[in-house]
Amino acid sequence: MHASPAFPAPKNGPDPAQLSRRVQEMIAAGRVHAARPLMAALRRAVPPSAELCDLEARLLLREGRIPEALAELDAGIAMGGASVELLISRADARMQAHDVLGAAADASDAVILAPGHARAKAVLGVVLLEMDRPEDAVPCLRAAVAAEPRHASCVRAYATALERCGDHDAAAQVLADGIRAVPGDAGLRTAAIMVAMRTRDFAAAADIAEAARQDGVADAQVFGLRGHALSSLGRHEEATEAYAEALKLAPDDPYVRHLVAAAGLLPQSSRAPAPYLEAVFDGYAQRFEAHLIGLQYRVPGLLREALLTLRPTLAEGAALGPMLDLGCGTGLMGVVLSDLPAGPLTGVDVSDGMLREAEGKGLYATLVHGELEAFLARDTTDWPVILAADVFCYFGVLEEALRLCHARLAPGGLLLFTVEELQDASADEAEKGWRLGRQGRFAHRVDYIERIAAEAGFALRVLRREGLRSEAGADVPGLLVALERVRHDG
Ligand SMILES: C[S@@+](CC[C@H](N)C(=O)[O-])C[C@H]1O[C@@H](n2cnc3c(N)ncnc32)[C@H](O)[C@@H]1O
Repeated sequence: MHASPAFPAPKNGPDPAQLSRRVQEMIAAGRVHAARPLMAALRRAVPPSAELCDLEARLLLREGRIPEALAELDAGIAMGGASVELLISRADARMQAHDVLGAAADASDAVILAPGHARAKAVLGVVLLEMDRPEDAVPCLRAAVAAEPRHASCVRAYATALERCGDHDAAAQVLADGIRAVPGDAGLRTAAIMVAMRTRDFAAAADIAEAARQDGVADAQVFGLRGHALSSLGRHEEATEAYAEALKLAPDDPYVRHLVAAAGLLPQSSRAPAPYLEAVFDGYAQRFEAHLIGLQYRVPGLLREALLTLRPTLAEGAALGPMLDLGCGTGLMGVVLSDLPAGPLTGVDVSDGMLREAEGKGLYATLVHGELEAFLARDTTDWPVILAADVFCYFGVLEEALRLCHARLAPGGLLLFTVEELQDASADEAEKGWRLGRQGRFAHRVDYIERIAAEAGFALRVLRREGLRSEAGADVPGLLVALERVRHDG
């Protein structure tokens, strides 16, 4: 916005152009409380205009007041016509209101109005990414980054679009260029580390994080990820130091705290916190299945096999009724059951990103975003079958989850799940029955599972050692478990 011509100086009173500049600076700096009284002064000093609506809307957006911002922008467009600036602001506001189609319309109009406008192209690119059209987003974002190579969020969006098109090398290069242009931006460093981690190039990830540290970028996420990368390389002592650095910078961050606990620097919590799971799985959702195929992930197939052994009529076409898939992720359980009369299926997961992938498969009648124990506690269905494929590894203490599953199963109903097996427990771990491993997942002892299953009232139908997936060339040892709510327990 060009403040001076939009807000001409009156003969006396505060200078509106200067007020407008100050408001813009404060919005950019995130100082919304300080900006608000200046905005009020500006509104008193000048008559209503489209520019004033735009500025007010941008402040309202920063304050999280999305419907009011949209109303301001509609008023601005009605007053002064659809300028590129107003269209870009409204596209932004509509995105925040989850009106993706409306945002796409505004962003396209802005690009048509000013084809060379870098910001308009950037917004259109981001909207196309949101619409899962990374191929169309790439040229928009490429042009935007070429015009403004120091616009860090635009560089990140461009790299995301390239990665979603499968071009990881190009994404890494774009981020490396971005880091050279804006060396102090921690978000670019984090994004570059994540690209390397997702291609399982942990050495590159650790190098990028180390370079950030040497360049003076002190950021908890960067240090936490450095710890993760080092731990994946088996360099546990250095990983522990990196986690300790991360913890100093963000003592309350759930992602950092969970990994720090896994490294043994904090007392172990009894389960992975939901914000940690969302951060991990939202970022991982689109690569999850390719990654698991690489690891020869066997869990959904194992649960299918156990189900067919215990309920052989299913293979003959006899439906069992509704099934609940706890921690359904991208819906692989739905895939392995799709040739059987299994379901209708309900999936529950804490990660929106994973649920979006599951939804795309069209195999679930219902998908619920939420934490599984909270879901079970309020649910009222009597399920014939509950499945939990590779999700109880995010719980240490499992008593409550088993108790809730038991309560929600119909008499004669089955709970099928896997856990990673804790084999070399210390005395303390043997007493607890579980351990939080360095990768942030929990492993459980076989006698613990037997004990808590019995305490919850279950009859043990299957308890078998199985390799769950392969990591660094070796099987990850696990337990395949099938429990039945016996009919006479009421
Ligand atoms: C390793 S993935 C397994 C996904 C799927 N069951 C499969 O076998 O492909 C674990 C999933 O459990 C979800 N999850 C972990 N803890 C959860 C919780 N407490 N409540 C709901 N979902 C959870 C994660 O978001 C993730 O999608």
